[in-house]
Amino acid sequence: MARALVVHGPNLNMLGIREPQVYGSTTLAAINDRLTALGQELGLEVECFQSNHEGVLVDKIQEAYDRFQVIVINPGALTHYSIALRDAVSSVGLPVIEVHLSNIHAREEFRHKSVLAPVAVGQITGFGPESYLLALRAAAKLVKG
Ligand code: DQA
Repeated sequence: MARALVVHGPNLNMLGIREPQVYGSTTLAAINDRLTALGQELGLEVECFQSNHEGVLVDKIQEAYDRFQVIVINPGALTHYSIALRDAVSSVGLPVIEVHLSNIHAREEFRHKSVLAPVAVGQITGFGPESYLLALRAAAKLVKG
């Protein structure tokens, strides 16, 4: 079975508590459960991973290159400035789909830019937890051609 890695960056472990008016009340555990269930429907084995540390995220993406066929990533604030994460994504050569709960283009100016977007297949932003599920559907399509 094809394998999808779902990566959550800094502060996403705080979902449910963190600024619910922006990010909603769904916890990360609940999002991961939904992704795993959808993965079963789509024929994708899903592994979910969260870290608050840029280097740990880089390590995880590097390790993915011969273990997974596709990556879904919400890089959190690293979206806007982490060249290291962007380079990790381009290094592994796997298709990557960028996800955001909030619509980053409708928020503060500093969130409008994603340094990862140019090396991602695409970006899904603004649909709350549904953003992840849409991304997993796109991931399944990419993997199966
Ligand atoms: C986020 C948007 C980022 O700007 C922010 O730093 C996050 C979450 C989102 O999912 O909407 O941590 O990636």
